[in-house]
Amino acid sequence: MTSVLQHTEWWRSAVIYQIYPRSFADANGDGMGDLLGIRDRLPELAELGIDAVWLSPFYTSPQKDAGYDVADYCDVDPLFGTLDDFDSMTSRAHELGLRVIVDLVPNHSSSEHVWFQAALAAAPGSPERDRYVFRDGLGENGELPPNNWESVFGGRAWTRTTNPDGTPGQWYLHLFDSTQPDFNWQNRWVRDQFGDILRFWLDRGVDGFRVDVAHGMVKADGLPDWTAPDAAGSMGGSDATRAPFWAQDGVHEIYREWREILNGYEGERILAAEAWVDPLTDMAKWVRPDEMHQAFNFPYLETPWTAQPLRAVIDASISAFSEVEAPSTWVLSNHDVVRHASRLALTAENPQGHGIGPKSAGLPIPELGLRRARAATALMLSLPGSAYIYQGEELGLPEVIDLPDDAREDPTWFRTNGERYGRDGCRVPIPWEANSPSFGFGPTAASWLPQPSDWAPFARDSQRGVEGSTLTMYRLALALRRAHELATGTIEWLDAGADTVLALRNSDVLVYANTGDSAVTLPAGDVLLASGPLGDNELPADTTVWLRA
Ligand code: NOJ
Repeated sequence: MTSVLQHTEWWRSAVIYQIYPRSFADANGDGMGDLLGIRDRLPELAELGIDAVWLSPFYTSPQKDAGYDVADYCDVDPLFGTLDDFDSMTSRAHELGLRVIVDLVPNHSSSEHVWFQAALAAAPGSPERDRYVFRDGLGENGELPPNNWESVFGGRAWTRTTNPDGTPGQWYLHLFDSTQPDFNWQNRWVRDQFGDILRFWLDRGVDGFRVDVAHGMVKADGLPDWTAPDAAGSMGGSDATRAPFWAQDGVHEIYREWREILNGYEGERILAAEAWVDPLTDMAKWVRPDEMHQAFNFPYLETPWTAQPLRAVIDASISAFSEVEAPSTWVLSNHDVVRHASRLALTAENPQGHGIGPKSAGLPIPELGLRRARAATALMLSLPGSAYIYQGEELGLPEVIDLPDDAREDPTWFRTNGERYGRDGCRVPIPWEANSPSFGFGPTAASWLPQPSDWAPFARDSQRGVEGSTLTMYRLALALRRAHELATGTIEWLDAGADTVLALRNSDVLVYANTGDSAVTLPAGDVLLASGPLGDNELPADTTVWLRA
């Protein structure tokens, strides 16, 4: 097939669409999304106007953490299809001019991976055990964990093993679930294996990797005790309060090695870091010229819909990333956080990853959430750099709050005995057709998480070509972003006349975002894009507009 891909540092300006394979499209009707389902729906993503797709894991996995527990890094789980299906999906994407980024999960494997099983079977001190983080316990009989670290998903970060003769053995570290043992990245053998894994997927034609927990792979020497000063279980950590398992200097040499591997391939393959690191000037270390290409801008995602903090984080992002010659990225939703059509209208604190459910405080008013989400997206897509879209946000999907308890699958839910709802609410299979079983997710009514019965108006076919729909707004914003070269532009702040309004110019577009709760006067001009209905010379509350300069 001829490729229509252009090689011009595409990643600096790309709009990258996150596909969560379990919930995108199900070709075989078993209720679980799959690679052929993705392949067949790609034309609809090309029509949206994106540049690339990033797929969350589809590798062989017992699915204890929805595939972020990998048992074979170089094969496809039968739930999602086969390697041939992957090739077929990738070549379809390339024919359509879309690049394909896959997820790499290097901090931990599944406990069912043969490497971990070999480590369990081997003796303490063996080369097999050295690939992971095994330690003797403290206390008289090793009955206490080696340190006080807690798992991001709740509970302790250590599990004790049982020796072949039934006696209690060493402990192993897992920053996430007990089925996700952490690798020892000081071990050369581990590094070599991951070099081969990168080459395996690069040889298959992938255009890059989103690197899971890219701030966690190296732990501080001696594994010192640590107590979280603020939100327990957060994946972040700021400079002064940095945990001994996040953002250690040693991670950077790993990425330099990987960058060399990618540089050996044609076609500008990229690395994108999932690194929850504060402040942005520290996060920028992940995207120095010889390391990764992009890092997800989580400080932006975590900023409320409030003008002045938004302005501050936009300035700080552009400044921190340009200091290292990297593009800024922008993101509002992903598979780990409450969807922004709900999050931006929450009235109670909700740390990322904790999720919301029927008993949460401060639940959002859906109409307000959607209005803010559309305004926030219109602001985000006007900014220079690369933007990430999470499947379903272009439909305006809210978080699903009332999932039945027995449907929930997130390990967070189990590890905290239901105290934290976790992330299932943003992972519900997405609606394509208003009048089909499972809203067109698949050919049957099956859906691994139940879909709300009132999702017909969100279905893609209810919104396609409909003026004022969220889908139409996304398509128009993406087309205008391209036509006006906003992704490669620079922004200049303008006098907005009110503290609650942001006003900026990028290229020949003026952007006004009203985060306040009352309408403001709208300057005269040709309207290119509006996130919601406009009044007569008025920009209503929670609305963003683009005007021709
Ligand atoms: C971050 C991923 O995005 C999340 O879904 C996963 O649970 C953890 N890393 C552990 O792999």
